[in-house]
Amino acid sequence: MTETTTETEEQSTGTSVGSGDTDTRTTKGESEERTRDEWREYSFSEDAILSVDDLNVYYGDDHALKDISMDIPEKSVTALIGPSGCGKSTFLRCLNRMNDRIKSARVEGTVEYNGEDVYQDGTNLVELRKRIGMVFQAPNPFPKSIRDNIAYGPRKHGDINRGFVASLLGRDDKEEEDELVEESLRKAALWDEVNDRLDDNALGLSGGQQQRLCIARCLAVNPEVILMDEPASALDPVATSKIEDLIEELAKEYTVVVVTHNMQQAARISDQTAVFLTGGELVEYDETDKIFENPESQRVEDYVTGKFG
Ligand SMILES: Nc1ncnc2c1ncn2[C@@H]1O[C@H](COP(=O)(O)OP(=O)(O)OP(=O)(O)O)[C@@H](O)[C@H]1O
Ligand SMILES: [Mg+2]
Repeated sequence: MTETTTETEEQSTGTSVGSGDTDTRTTKGESEERTRDEWREYSFSEDAILSVDDLNVYYGDDHALKDISMDIPEKSVTALIGPSGCGKSTFLRCLNRMNDRIKSARVEGTVEYNGEDVYQDGTNLVELRKRIGMVFQAPNPFPKSIRDNIAYGPRKHGDINRGFVASLLGRDDKEEEDELVEESLRKAALWDEVNDRLDDNALGLSGGQQQRLCIARCLAVNPEVILMDEPASALDPVATSKIEDLIEELAKEYTVVVVTHNMQQAARISDQTAVFLTGGELVEYDETDKIFENPESQRVEDYVTGKFG
């Protein structure tokens, strides 16, 4: 991340950083405001597991994300907030190259995962998406048993062998599979609720249980990072609170990046918060307490206090 100031307005007007009196601050929402590099320069003591530099994303002619640079610390919860259409989902999808699936999307810049650019030629996308898993807004279990939902990925990737041929060859991994299913469901705080009906269809679970099943399914392929796009927005308050508790628990072992529209949720569960605003800009990135209690940007303050968005 660069230390130089690149504020266009500042350069064009020649005003100096910190003079204060030339701010075009407003409480009416998203009007003009100078942005400053230092508002986005969050420093932390952990290692950065993801490092995004100068990321620009276009959908055809639409410039959806502009010059985004940010480092994400490992084993923590990073919240991405901002009004609808500001590019949160787009950003999230860049981290494990899910945007590759969108024909019109063009991505420029670098995203490093453990120091390796995920956009370099030759990246193994299957492996990348195992290591950087994703959980979506609406729970999307397969119309299969609870057990099969968890075991599907490891079986497909050949980490677990099951079935007639495997047993003929003496390589039926039933015990490993049972252990993996239990471990994944325990980590997703679902085991106690479903251990007596692992062979029931997953679609018979409640919405909140289905979402925890999707998290368990993601955990079963041994990820390091879990991306979540509004994982609780379709759930009732009780189910939401279970997902929030789970996210905090998961962050002891995993890196969680979560998009949410719910300010209280971001404030409750995240360690650091990145605020995107309309136009696809990252305006401020810092410790969550700082963002919610004493942000630098007036627009961010307006947003987190509910004055717009
Ligand atoms: N598949 C797509 N094709 C074309 N444009 C897209 C596509 N996905 C997103 N966009 C555009 O990119 C911009 C950012 O969208 P994105 O979905 O990332 O925003 P968001 O912050 O996640 O919004 P929301 O809070 O509503 O989910 C928007 O202008 C949107 O219309
Ligand atoms: Mg979105």
